[in-house]
Amino acid sequence: MLHPAATPQPDQAAQRWPWWPLLPLYPYGRRATLVREVVAGSVWCFEQLQGVYYVAVPIRMTVLKLKHGLLLYAPVAPTGEVRRALADLERAHGPVQTIVLPSSSGLEHKLPVPAMARACPEATVWVTPQQWSFPLPLPLRWLGFPAQRTRVLFEQGTPHPDELTWSPLGPLDLGLGTFMEAACLHRSTGTLLVTDALVSIGAEPPAVFALDPTPLLFHARERGEEALIDAPERRRRGWQRLALFASYLRPASLQVPSLVETLRGALRPGVRNARSHFGLYPFRWPSGWEAEFESLQGLQERGLQIAPVLERLVFPRCRRQLITWIQELAKLEGVRQLIAAHHEAPVACDAQALQGLAASLEQRAWAADHGSWSLLARIDQTLLRLGLVPQQPADPD
Ligand SMILES: [Fe+2]
Repeated sequence: MLHPAATPQPDQAAQRWPWWPLLPLYPYGRRATLVREVVAGSVWCFEQLQGVYYVAVPIRMTVLKLKHGLLLYAPVAPTGEVRRALADLERAHGPVQTIVLPSSSGLEHKLPVPAMARACPEATVWVTPQQWSFPLPLPLRWLGFPAQRTRVLFEQGTPHPDELTWSPLGPLDLGLGTFMEAACLHRSTGTLLVTDALVSIGAEPPAVFALDPTPLLFHARERGEEALIDAPERRRRGWQRLALFASYLRPASLQVPSLVETLRGALRPGVRNARSHFGLYPFRWPSGWEAEFESLQGLQERGLQIAPVLERLVFPRCRRQLITWIQELAKLEGVRQLIAAHHEAPVACDAQALQGLAASLEQRAWAADHGSWSLLARIDQTLLRLGLVPQQPADPD
């Protein structure tokens, strides 16, 4: 059960991450959480926003009801709001038994785990193999993971195999570190959980932005001197631009004005406030940028796709392993919906959809170098040239 006495206050939890204040991460300590019940009495999503300079994207923890308690897949920051909602679920459904870190490389998923483990002192923590940290390779216990109750997925078994089916992607040796992700099928509800490898990007903003649409309204503007105005079409426009940022880092349709031009829009009436960053807005979106978002959505197959940033920086030479994993997921019986740790969820999904996605990845061009993909390709090529990533990454033993 959650221990109030042992539970850190939200701000204390943040302070235990010593590098946290160094990162200009939105929402700057005011992290709100949307809790949604997606299968009555069985599956809940806890969603927050995180990002840099208002390029905020949803991050999601999924809670599964098991026979004797709860499992947390990909924990989010255990703020007071999160702990109160979890305590409500525990009173109704039993204690948090299991916490799963389903990624070896996703820092955004790794950071909240120690604080969540302290908040749930009876829970067993499962992590994917070959966890790594940067810049120093620190052992998990130095990062705050409880050594006595931390287990390694697949190497030391899997949690609740009578109710859950686990499917590993990787480990893939990427030179700088290891990529690995553990998908989990909750068989009683047909809910397939994944972390980063698959996403769904809808035309409308994900529900969590209803708590705070500021990032959408910030990026919906054409000029820094424009005030943040809330309207459905502006939320939609802001979301589609955010999705392009998150997917390509620097979308092809984006222009960056000169410093002089950027400063010209600053401190104008209506934007003299921190929420508007005092009018500093170093972006221009020429007409026609919407076509780039439509192309991004065109990569989807039945609402699912590989996040471009992963396709170009993590999987550029691992297409075969990725397709094989998706084909394995397609063999799982009873999949009805997919919940990823980012962007839209849940998404209707079944074996056919997964087979279709695998087939489309076989056929289409992969890890392109031009247009929207240019910056990602340059980063990858630089890492290759420096010898930091292997030409042909092998599956490590
Ligand atoms: Fe992630």
